[in-house]
Amino acid sequence: MSIFHYFFGNDKQRAKFVFNFIAPLYGKIDQAIQNDYAKICKQLNAAIPLEGNSVLDIGTGTGGWLASIGKYTQGELVGVDFSTKMIHQAEKNHPGIKFIHSDAENLDSFADNSYDIVTASFVLHGMKAPERAIVMKEMKRIARKYVMIQDFHKHTAPVIQFLEFMERSDYKNFKKNFVAEMDSNFKETKLVESASGNAVYVGLLG
Ligand SMILES: C[S@@+](CC[C@H](N)C(=O)[O-])C[C@H]1O[C@@H](n2cnc3c(N)ncnc32)[C@H](O)[C@@H]1O
Repeated sequence: MSIFHYFFGNDKQRAKFVFNFIAPLYGKIDQAIQNDYAKICKQLNAAIPLEGNSVLDIGTGTGGWLASIGKYTQGELVGVDFSTKMIHQAEKNHPGIKFIHSDAENLDSFADNSYDIVTASFVLHGMKAPERAIVMKEMKRIARKYVMIQDFHKHTAPVIQFLEFMERSDYKNFKKNFVAEMDSNFKETKLVESASGNAVYVGLLG
């Protein structure tokens, strides 16, 4: 991956370049990320008790979201990401958790219904609707009980808007359409909203 992919590559090549590039910084702010995620995990756990559930985290980055959920469950925790540099940082920051290099659009190595919870945090807004639909289908296939998506919901801070612009993400359409996308996939969707304008969208299975 090189800067060439940022300017001339397809969406996925650009995203891979960006996330490999920022992985060292992301690794350093992992603890700060977890402090923020701790608040929403507390709310999430109050709405849906997490204890005893195994968790697969898609686009795990440096593992901050998975580690935050992991404080509420003794179940197996696994994180996957397509950025080798993110995986490397995640292994350094969270030696007790298993991390695997994998593309979210092809999770064939995970069996149907093999994890209680399949989650993704700030991953899906980066994809266009067709790719999002493929990833959602995979997450739903692997999940036994819940698909949990932490992502943008209401207001987005100007600095984040700038970063999303640089990443050329789909966050505006994501915010407009994602509740409907969840509703088309699940018999029931619950929303756990945070004070920062984000939410965990929970799709109930079974
Ligand atoms: C904004 S970061 C979020 C990281 C982490 N989930 C968190 O909340 O801190 C998005 C992550 O998704 C990963 N990602 C994006 N598209 C992916 C794909 N198609 N397959 C696997 N990982 C992907 C990126 O490499 C990056 O680590």
